[in-house]
Amino acid sequence: MGHVHVLDHPLIQHKLTHIRDKSTGTKEFRELVDEVAMLMAFEITRNLPLQETTIETPVMEAKAKVLAGKKIGLIPILRAGLGMVDGVLKLIPAAKVGHVGLYRDPETLKPVEYYIKLPSDIEERELIVIDPMLATGGSANDAIASLKKRGAKNIRLMCLIAAPEGVDVIKKEHPDVDIYLGALDEKLDDHAYIVPGLGDAGDRLFGTK
Ligand code: URA
Repeated sequence: MGHVHVLDHPLIQHKLTHIRDKSTGTKEFRELVDEVAMLMAFEITRNLPLQETTIETPVMEAKAKVLAGKKIGLIPILRAGLGMVDGVLKLIPAAKVGHVGLYRDPETLKPVEYYIKLPSDIEERELIVIDPMLATGGSANDAIASLKKRGAKNIRLMCLIAAPEGVDVIKKEHPDVDIYLGALDEKLDDHAYIVPGLGDAGDRLFGTK
């Protein structure tokens, strides 16, 4: 069963509080999301495997560790996922980035996939799907299914805030996927917004309404 990790590092929690605050404007919101994404990437990559190599320090030959194993792929779900990509890339600059475009049909609340462009070797990569708000779970569920259909085998999901409803959907539909959250909120409201949440992540990142 996939695990749910709430990343309760004090810096993440502090910044998340300012992200939630409705008086935080677009510029600051974007900067804070970028910083939290970087801090979350630090925690998410905690268990990446290492291997030993030999180097020459100025003093002597030494055995030292480098990352081993699979390369990383970041898959932001458009559009709000874009706001977290640069923060993750600060720590994992060699990661390749694929994009999945989904929107929620306002009538049915079901996701519609309108764009997908992925690195050619996704089946060999450790993929991190990025979606700031895991609300109904519809978009993330659909994006993960799309990736699996195209050969992806190792997928983690990274979200700023989730509702229990969304977490349950991913746990049920994709039990192999570990979920990393900044916070697990109370519930969804009648319009599928996360409560208390932060409002519409895409609108707040890009200054739209
Ligand atoms: N998407 C958002 O941006 N915010 C929510 O609360 C739910 C979905």
